Amino acid sequence: MRSVTSDHYFSAEPSAPARRRQITFDVAGRGYRLSTAAGVFSAERLDAGTAVLLRKATLPGPGTTGALLDLGCGYGAITAVLASRAPYATVYAVDVNTRALDLVRENATALEIADRVVAATPDEVPDGTRFAQIWSNPPIRVGKEELHGLLRRWLPRLEPDGTAWLVVARHLGADSLQAWLTAQGWPAQRHASQKGYRVLSVRNTGDASARLAENP
Ligand SMILES: C[S@@+](CC[C@H](N)C(=O)[O-])C[C@H]1O[C@@H](n2cnc3c(N)ncnc32)[C@H](O)[C@@H]1O
Repeated sequence: MRSVTSDHYFSAEPSAPARRRQITFDVAGRGYRLSTAAGVFSAERLDAGTAVLLRKATLPGPGTTGALLDLGCGYGAITAVLASRAPYATVYAVDVNTRALDLVRENATALEIADRVVAATPDEVPDGTRFAQIWSNPPIRVGKEELHGLLRRWLPRLEPDGTAWLVVARHLGADSLQAWLTAQGWPAQRHASQKGYRVLSVRNTGDASARLAENP
């Protein structure tokens, strides 16, 4: 786990006082009110990239079942939308920041979706869990090597024919990430582009998982 000598948004245990607040946003005609706190990514408002992702990607329909992953969930904006839209699915909200995970639990309780939301650190997710969809506004600022490691860790857990939806700012390397994913055997398409953000859809073709199994 990353050291927490300075308080980045990806600190495991932020040292700054929590300074709670409520934020509101709309997705697909529904309003959401969530609690956030200092020391958690984009605590003042729904992040612009996350807003583009939730506006442009194909949200799960009401009949969606199985497990969905919100990778790097923060206070749980994506989790709230996925679990509200897909009442038969379970959403794993995964982050290294324990304050963020506490907020996810609190927000899930307030939205009455807590029975279908699992807020967990990466190591707490059982190894065998596979995901029908992975959603992420990934932590680009951790650096390329760590970001690639994160994607190598979680993308192989997509179910066959599953889709991962990622949002990345163009100026933070969306196009090179798309090329890297495709070269790794994870065909990544530019699904949409808005306000300087790219929404990438990544399919599990099985090729990369097979390659990983051969050369872990
Ligand atoms: C760009 S933020 C997105 C947060 C949230 N999904 C949102 O849209 O507001 C990325 C998140 O990834 C988390 N993160 C950083 N490293 C991680 C890791 N190795 N595994 C899981 N999450 C991580 C950070 O703590 C942060 O909350």
